[in-house]
Amino acid sequence: MIVKWRSRIHGAGVYATRSISKNTRIIHYAGEKISNRESLKRERRYIRNGHIWCFKLTNRTVIDAGVGGNVARFINHSCRPNCYIDIKDGVIWIRAARPIRKGEELTYDYNTDGEGLIKCRCRPGCQRFL
Ligand SMILES: C[S@@+](CC[C@H](N)C(=O)[O-])C[C@H]1O[C@@H](n2cnc3c(N)ncnc32)[C@H](O)[C@@H]1O
Ligand SMILES: [Zn+2]
Repeated sequence: MIVKWRSRIHGAGVYATRSISKNTRIIHYAGEKISNRESLKRERRYIRNGHIWCFKLTNRTVIDAGVGGNVARFINHSCRPNCYIDIKDGVIWIRAARPIRKGEELTYDYNTDGEGLIKCRCRPGCQRFL
């Protein structure tokens, strides 16, 4: 249903290899479950290389896709995304926010609460920082 490929937004991205209907659970965000405290340490290291791999699961726990992650970790951010996040029973699902055409790049809103060091490139003229 999806494939990793070079992205116009940044580095690698993830694309639909067939049309996907609205609300489909496309993939879950895999990785090591760690504490919030541990993730703050790791994120400082990751961000130096320009990467965000840590996904907040609850107020106390984070999924670090830098360890044991799947292809979901290559899904880029967009301020006008075609996917959304649905957390069910401790699993972070990436679901289709609308019908997605074959060949479209998958995106979701990262909703980052970090320092905003990365300029968003989701579309020309976007003013947001991730
Ligand atoms: C989870 S990774 C996504 C995969 C990434 N493209 C790669 O090749 O490793 C998240 C990183 O991708 C980049 N990224 C994702 N969405 C972006 C966007 N809209 N604008 C700029 N950079 C973005 C940022 O460097 C971010 O830290
Ligand atoms: Zn943007």
